[in-house]
Amino acid sequence: MAPMRAFEEQENEILDAVARVLKSGMWVYANEGKAFEDEFAKYMGCDRTVAVSCGTDSLILSLMALGVGPGDEVITPAYSFFASASVIKHVGATPVFCDIDEKTFNIDPEAVKAAITPKTVGIIPVHLYGLPADMKSLREIADKNGLFLLEDACQAVGARINGKAVGTFGDLAGFSFYPTKNLSACGEGGCISGKNAEALEIASKIRLHGETKRYYHSLLGLNARLEEIQSAILRIKLKKLPEWTARRQEIAGMYTDAWADLPMRVPYVPDGFEHVFHLYVIKSRDRERLREYLNEKKIGNGVYYPVILPGLEIFRELGYNPGEFPVSEHCCREVLALPIFPQMTEGEIEAVIQAVYDFHGSKGL
Ligand SMILES: Cc1ncc(COP(=O)(O)O)c(C=O)c1O
Repeated sequence: MAPMRAFEEQENEILDAVARVLKSGMWVYANEGKAFEDEFAKYMGCDRTVAVSCGTDSLILSLMALGVGPGDEVITPAYSFFASASVIKHVGATPVFCDIDEKTFNIDPEAVKAAITPKTVGIIPVHLYGLPADMKSLREIADKNGLFLLEDACQAVGARINGKAVGTFGDLAGFSFYPTKNLSACGEGGCISGKNAEALEIASKIRLHGETKRYYHSLLGLNARLEEIQSAILRIKLKKLPEWTARRQEIAGMYTDAWADLPMRVPYVPDGFEHVFHLYVIKSRDRERLREYLNEKKIGNGVYYPVILPGLEIFRELGYNPGEFPVSEHCCREVLALPIFPQMTEGEIEAVIQAVYDFHGSKGL
């Protein structure tokens, strides 16, 4: 529903752009892709970005460009979307999981320090739900130990710390433009940014089979280009992103004000941090009953995430045991995402606020 409403808001402009691209005969990464990269870099306040096929590929290409491979360990949170860890396995390295901070849902720098071994080469902080991770502490840890930082900014386009955009802190950073994301394609899409210009250049080559000139390949790469139709659509949507982000923040503010006194935890935003509310996630001890109640009232909701990453079958070989990541495990039992997207009507926002109130037996609006 949310992606469709965003499309409808710019329907004519998007359809015109799609027709323009189709008629140009240039359908895979070309002028639209390059223009999008420049415009996205300008939006973030950095020199360069590299458009790719999806967020997962943005992280895989980044790890490849940073030279990560078998024998290397990369630290990542125990609580995130699967791709924050699977990409490490994809390049033949070993994910090392860390618990998260219970207020921010982001990787706990103290846990990161404890997880470093002689094999550790880097850290993947995830800006979960749209709130930046503690990049200052993580940068200190990374520099002290000679590690790279690869930001998983897939949920956090536009989020900032003291005015500085996520995607500009790490050696490299990956973004996703999946249809439900704050900046979304009408299909798959992703992008890489970061401070390490050399690695960015390598990533741009890996995106097209490591080609230096046509049919001459200097690196082992992939085919991970962004399509021109998606680039053209992203350029149109990028213009709206500041307005849409402000609206998400406004809706989040309404929820938080209305529910501050209810027996559930509303999102915490540290001073100087700008949360872009890709998801508005509360924590409730009564989560299952709240879910049932919201389902009855036809209010959308979702559990991101019901299981910690080290608990997944695919990572069983790493030998983690239940109880090793208590904060993450606790979050799996209590988190609930409530509807948030810029095109929500006042009536829809009020219905969400009222339903959560009514569930708690409070007096309502
Ligand atoms: C935290 C995180 N990392 C990585 C990804 C992967 O992005 P994509 O679906 O575009 O491949 C996602 C997508 O949901 C995500 O939420």
